[in-house]
Amino acid sequence: MADTATPNVIRRADYAPPAFLIDTVALEFDLIPERTVVRNTMRVRRNPDASHASNFELMGEQLEFVNATIDGAPFAQAHAHEHGLTLDNVPDSFELTLTSICNPAENTTLSGLYVSGGNFFTQCEAEGFRRITYFLDRPDVMATFTVTLRASKADYPVLLSNGNLLEEGELPDGRHFARWEDPFRKPSYLFALVAGKLVALEERVKSGSGKEKLLQVWVEPHDLDKTRHAMDSLINSIRWDESRFGLELDLDRFMIVAVSDFNMGAMENKGLNIFNTKYVLANPETATDTDFANIEAVVGHEYFHNWTGNRVTCRDWFQLSLKEGLTVFRDQEFSADMAGGATDEAARATKRIEDVRVLRQMQFAEDAGPMAHPVRPESYVEINNFYTMTVYEKGSEVVRMYQTLFGRDGFRKGMDLYFKRHDGQAVTCDDFRHALADANGRDLAQFERWYSQAGTPRVSVRTQYDAAQQRYSVTLTQGYGDTAPAARETQKGPLLIPFAIGLIGKDGHDLALQLEGETRASEATTRVLEFTQTEQTFTFVNVAQEPLPSLLRNFSAPVIVEYDYSADQLAFLLAHDSDPFNRWEAGQRLATRELLTLAGRAATGVPLQLDDSVVAAFARVLTDETLSPAFRELALMLPSEAYLAEQMAESNPAAVHAARQFVRKRLANALRADWLAVYEKHRTPGAYEATPEASGHRALKNLALSYLAELDDPAEAVRLASAQYDAANNMTDRSAALSALLNASAANGGSVEAQQALDDFYRRFEKEPLVIDKWFALQATQRGSAQRPVIEIVRKLMAHPAFNLKNPNRARSLIFSFCAANPAQFHAEDGSGYAFWAEQVIALDAINPQVAARLARSLELWRRFTPTLRDGMRAALEKVASQVKSRDVREIVEKALA
Ligand code: TRP
Ligand code: ZN
Repeated sequence: MADTATPNVIRRADYAPPAFLIDTVALEFDLIPERTVVRNTMRVRRNPDASHASNFELMGEQLEFVNATIDGAPFAQAHAHEHGLTLDNVPDSFELTLTSICNPAENTTLSGLYVSGGNFFTQCEAEGFRRITYFLDRPDVMATFTVTLRASKADYPVLLSNGNLLEEGELPDGRHFARWEDPFRKPSYLFALVAGKLVALEERVKSGSGKEKLLQVWVEPHDLDKTRHAMDSLINSIRWDESRFGLELDLDRFMIVAVSDFNMGAMENKGLNIFNTKYVLANPETATDTDFANIEAVVGHEYFHNWTGNRVTCRDWFQLSLKEGLTVFRDQEFSADMAGGATDEAARATKRIEDVRVLRQMQFAEDAGPMAHPVRPESYVEINNFYTMTVYEKGSEVVRMYQTLFGRDGFRKGMDLYFKRHDGQAVTCDDFRHALADANGRDLAQFERWYSQAGTPRVSVRTQYDAAQQRYSVTLTQGYGDTAPAARETQKGPLLIPFAIGLIGKDGHDLALQLEGETRASEATTRVLEFTQTEQTFTFVNVAQEPLPSLLRNFSAPVIVEYDYSADQLAFLLAHDSDPFNRWEAGQRLATRELLTLAGRAATGVPLQLDDSVVAAFARVLTDETLSPAFRELALMLPSEAYLAEQMAESNPAAVHAARQFVRKRLANALRADWLAVYEKHRTPGAYEATPEASGHRALKNLALSYLAELDDPAEAVRLASAQYDAANNMTDRSAALSALLNASAANGGSVEAQQALDDFYRRFEKEPLVIDKWFALQATQRGSAQRPVIEIVRKLMAHPAFNLKNPNRARSLIFSFCAANPAQFHAEDGSGYAFWAEQVIALDAINPQVAARLARSLELWRRFTPTLRDGMRAALEKVASQVKSRDVREIVEKALA
């Protein structure tokens, strides 16, 4: 029961190199679901760079130890215990063979070796390899692996592992084998095997240097018709990494395998990426435009890890952002290039806006709560809890800042030097920073604070125009404001903030930029100011008229900007800023400000009203045909309820919902004719196309439909939505229509049209698990009403025959959707949502601690809510804290209650 004891804290400062190194690993598997025998033969030697240890300590979990031999002779001084195996008094260099047994059939944690849909899969990051065999399961121990798989040929015709296939053949008793070799040294977390009844879409491509590569996307046979997009995304990823970073695929064969039971998105195992089906399978009937885009991004992400993560890996798990922040940055740039090439700034901006929206909604919230941690954390209890928005998304912003400071070419030089120095090594975030600094001849000592300080920086801006001198001064002040205690203790000093700025004249055009001390104005009308002190003033000269500042263009740093824009100024920026990101940003600021005022009123029962000027600003965007449909959709989408609630002094989800609904209805009714016109104009008749343009049309059209569903008289919207539902030839349109029907009927406690569509949807897609996930999610996130609270629908769906708590996608589709994506219903005053949450966290804890811990996090901001909700959440957290067993969930709830 060590799991229930006070958990051990692992600290970055305690890092010590391993006492032993493992140079080669030969693994033999006899794959049987309930009893898989693993024989592991390793070449081991003492690490010359570590202090002497007489015992060899290997990690192991949930393993049945069979025996050990050293240099071929039985070794008696091997003691198996709960955390692994201890070998007493080992020689300096030896060959060690360990035999052990595990039970993949009963492994519901989906970490280590497990069975899903009758096939075998592995998941080893971060610490799953120790559930397969005893090992030095840490990323700074790198070895070359040879893997022999043996299994029943009828049940497991396909046998895959990392690298190249050496041989395969028959064995007695209907069994067969395959032997794989990975020529590259790798840490154990990148090991993978797959065995089962799978088929592959195959393609052969030539890489940059002319070598032929075999690409495969492995799926269950009935899913073969949904693999084309993943394959195209893989081919595009290979091309992109060659052209943008000069990085070539280094294996003869690259495989992607889809599995429906998976804890996260996907995993970058060397040459054998394993993916959640959600990020592989797509055809127009089953996948939305968002799904198509996500698949491209995740395929890219895992492929790009081959260099940033695999060829150069992490010294320890505190360095996780070294690979994740960098690889997220690379996948974001890939998606932006795929949408807009290197130069179409407006098309690139839509990707940027989506990424920043996620960052602000999720990472800023994380930074404001008890789990706040720096991009490079100082300590953890369970490493799986640190695959976070901060490590991934803020980490990506930190990498992006190097590119903002040095330009694309400077960034590329830094990357080249990083690989030149560290290929084949396990390194740190400091090593990456030094490569970027040295390649660009810069001292980046101050920049280190982006890795060590938690919390979201705030930059407040003051401006002053001196008409007589034609000088415009911009004074920037940085700090963290009132941040969470977990963040405060990490904050030591000012950051180097690349602060991109433009100045806009009365006619809406950018003004020339000349800083004091410069001999002439620059050609570029955006300038990246290097803001390094707590307070700093930048003075522009030869400014002939008082400008309007466009601040933090393209979101050049992950900070909050405070500046007192008037509503008119924001409307002007929304209409004119040459930086497309900041055009969107102006609209969001305008909307956020109005919505927060309205939420404050709703909280105190004051009647709501919205100024006509705000409606007018939105009307201009809606009807501005010079803007791309994709951009208009983003600009017309109001900030999310979760984001708005987080901006309130005291989060009040009901008030936020009331305010946001009020504004949506007001915009719907006031602009009814425009929404209808946009709806008609942006239909995409004919065959489905997955291009950014077509998807932009669908996004705008479906946004119009969702606004029309808010009309006081929704009859017309219901007619349009029903017709769209029936006629749809793609999932984007079909699911948007269903969602509109559900929401249009919410106020009346449901409608015949909505129920019919729901039933039809289920029948139509009964055999498509990923679509049934959408069916659950749409119902869990729908609007509720007093007569029909969504919790009742959710509880009913928990008993639906298609519901299965053991499948993470299904659990997420119903439970997480309700607890994390339907705030107004989840935070019901009667505490019904919290009671449900507690039950489900406790149930999941016994099945899959990683998934349970994710769900546990949906209450972590409890202290920021209104008193009644706060009390209800605390009670639920205490209940969970008293019952859960896993280290994963304990860390989350204990930090929340501390
Ligand atoms: N390294 C993976 C990625 O970002 C994510 C990952 C970490 C993961 N741990 C996992 C995936 C556990 C599945 C299960 O690409
Ligand atoms: Zn990753």
